[in-house]
Amino acid sequence: MVTYFNGDFVDDDDARISVRSRGLNYGLGCFGGVRGYLADDERQVYVYRLADHVTRLQRSAKVLFMRLPGDHAEVSSILVELLQRNDVHYDVYIRPLLFSNSNRLAPLLREEDSCFTAFCMPLRRYLDKDSIDVCVSSWRRVSDNAIPARTKPTGLYLNSALARREAHDNGFDEAIFLTERGQVSEGSAEHVFIVRRGVLYSPPSTEDNLDGITRRSLISLITEDLGLPFVERSIGRSELYTSDEMFLCGTGAEITPVRSVDRRLVGEGEIGPITKRLQTYFGDVVRGRVERRREWLTPVWT
Ligand SMILES: Cc1ncc(COP(=O)(O)O)c(C=O)c1O
Repeated sequence: MVTYFNGDFVDDDDARISVRSRGLNYGLGCFGGVRGYLADDERQVYVYRLADHVTRLQRSAKVLFMRLPGDHAEVSSILVELLQRNDVHYDVYIRPLLFSNSNRLAPLLREEDSCFTAFCMPLRRYLDKDSIDVCVSSWRRVSDNAIPARTKPTGLYLNSALARREAHDNGFDEAIFLTERGQVSEGSAEHVFIVRRGVLYSPPSTEDNLDGITRRSLISLITEDLGLPFVERSIGRSELYTSDEMFLCGTGAEITPVRSVDRRLVGEGEIGPITKRLQTYFGDVVRGRVERRREWLTPVWT
């Protein structure tokens, strides 16, 4: 496949960095994860909320003293061109990655060391099950005052990987982090929603989680399109055990229903009616079937 690397589109095999790179040695970088969805005509591909992903990347770059290779329009057009050059006519995942590519020893963030790359791959389901079993991790989410989760920093994903490994070793599909204060934060790469007595709840991004684009989209769809009640507030651990429905969401995970938490069934263990309704509606939105949400989609092909 073709990859964007530091100013050029090159063959994947030619996008290389040194083993000395600080980006590799210290995890100095930030990234995005963007999806493109095949439309019903089986030709067009809609990039989902491209503008919001690029804006988040710009903000991450600012916090981490890194430099993107251009303004919002230029970065957006690199990502669209990546799909065109790869002749993408399928569900696709795009990974823009900005990292510090200095080969010097000490960890240090400097704008001039920034290197930007973007690659893509076919992706259908990220969590390959209709409904998943999760655990509350023994690992706590890194606090905003240690590593700012809202910047989607590469180094933070060691925290995610440890939690996922522990979850898998114990027979679960995914892990839920609590913050150092003991409130629900997020999954390893997903946000959390629960339903109790017909009301949807999700913790705010001040609970040390990413400023999520899928989460924000769903809040709009829940409140504006479906007219369902939603409350953004902290969630305690045992609320997960007593919720009627629960799902995780994210660019990769889309809407993934949760069947159990720490071996306690969520509701009756079936996918709940609100989760199901939202899943179907979200699927229609991302494939361009909902006129009023077309503005969230960027077509790859003219
Ligand atoms: C840690 C983390 N939380 C949540 C999410 C979901 O965020 P978004 O909907 O912006 O993809 C992601 C990325 O997909 C993530 O890496």
